[in-house]
Amino acid sequence: MLIETKRCGQHVVLTMNRPDKLNALSYELIDELMDRLDALEGDDSVRCLVLTGQGDKAFSAGADIVGFATDIAASPEAACRNFVMRGQAMTRRIENYPKPVIAAVNGIAFGGGCETMEACSIAIAAQHATFAKPEIRLGFPPPFGGTQRLPRHIGRKRANEMILTGDAISAEEALLTGLINHVVPSPELLTSCLQMADRIARNSAVAVTASLRAVTRGMNVSIDEGLAIEAAQFMIAAASQDAREGTAAFVEKRQPVFKHR
Ligand code: COA
Repeated sequence: MLIETKRCGQHVVLTMNRPDKLNALSYELIDELMDRLDALEGDDSVRCLVLTGQGDKAFSAGADIVGFATDIAASPEAACRNFVMRGQAMTRRIENYPKPVIAAVNGIAFGGGCETMEACSIAIAAQHATFAKPEIRLGFPPPFGGTQRLPRHIGRKRANEMILTGDAISAEEALLTGLINHVVPSPELLTSCLQMADRIARNSAVAVTASLRAVTRGMNVSIDEGLAIEAAQFMIAAASQDAREGTAAFVEKRQPVFKHR
């Protein structure tokens, strides 16, 4: 299996499983991850996904260069269809996923591995994790959304430096630039991600999904369009039993009991 699935309480840990190739994203691995995301989307008992890489060396060293080299050699059209579109669809799927996807960055997050992490809702990294956009050294720009998401996350000039040099940055630098949320000692990585998932899961699933949608959909539109998206997502959440329960619980000075509907 290229994607290992492990249930942890209310959450599921998905592990990219090609450690001998630093969890490089082969077409098969991407397709399997997409299948797994499809299968888990409608399972209401699953609150958050944690995405990580097998071993302690790499989250993922990016798209599988050996795999896509054949398509690049064939034609730009073949490379775009099989490689770029596949990778972009995966990062967009993660970014738009209705449940939080937390990246547990357990080592190298290069190229498509970095782009996959960027698409996640939240990212926590081990102290030894490193981040890079080495695609320029292969002769092309980042193709799984990296030229679009990275500048939105860390600003145009910092993004240009990473994209144009291909140089790696440390977990501490990634934290300072806003690329990731937290840095923790390696042995605590998975626990930290699952604790974050538990903190999210205390809240209404309806409100969590509405919040994710408002943030993701609003990121790339004007403020007025974004506010309309926010209002529409608020309406969805406000119509839930949970919104009535949450506000009633505050007024009655008790803890809310959310039913996630
Ligand atoms: N695609 C395919 N195979 C990859 C890979 C990738 N992106 N990244 C690493 N591997 C493979 C290596 O070929 C090697 O396989 P082998 O043992 O059969 O020779 C194995 O994973 C271990 O990698 P190795 O290069 O020996 O590890 P390292 O610690 O010396 O270097 C990196 C680590 C990340 C610096 C180096 O592997 C690298 O530069 N990888 C490519 C990163 C990249 O350009 N990603 C963007 C792709 S678009």
